[in-house]
Amino acid sequence: METPPALLPKELISATAIAARIRELGAEISRDYAGKPLTVIAIANGAIIFTADLIRAIDLPLQLDSIMLASYGTQTASSGEVVSRSKLKLELSGRHVLVVDEILDSGHTLMKVFELLKQEKPIDVKFCVLLNKQERRRADIRADYVGFEIPDHFVVGYGLDYHEYCRNVPYVGVMQE
Ligand code: IMP
Ligand code: MG
Repeated sequence: METPPALLPKELISATAIAARIRELGAEISRDYAGKPLTVIAIANGAIIFTADLIRAIDLPLQLDSIMLASYGTQTASSGEVVSRSKLKLELSGRHVLVVDEILDSGHTLMKVFELLKQEKPIDVKFCVLLNKQERRRADIRADYVGFEIPDHFVVGYGLDYHEYCRNVPYVGVMQE
């Protein structure tokens, strides 16, 4: 059992900056999906905070579902083996799907999600991530909506965890030794 980190993470992206960027993303998504049947799928647990804020910035009727995945590897590097740990509740056929995750790193997670969701026959599948670490990409996947591009740092807060801690920190930061 890990103990909580002794120090608060050092701020990288403030809560105010996150909120402002989410308003922009919400407006862009609202324009792009106007008049279309939209289903938002949050990748739990990390994306629940971002998703909660993002969907309230989308001024359209939408349905919300979530999927839980487990990724194997070390805390800071994905092995590429990602398995689904939950089933969707909603029908996706005839729907436009927007998958929301807090960070796009190697891309293995979103690749797995794409493969899983494709089987449900949605009209299309797009991705929205709060953070993109472009230099870490391994899988051939790109996000359609990106909140912030960040360098290759291990970040926490706003849903991102360190041994399951720090998800409730209201900003994105880096761990302090
Ligand atoms: P990917 O499969 O390597 O793209 O990684 C996606 C998942 O790894 C994210 O949804 C996070 O749960 C986790 N992850 C990747 N980078 C970080 C980080 O810097 N901090 C915390 N979690 C991370
Ligand atoms: Mg995640």
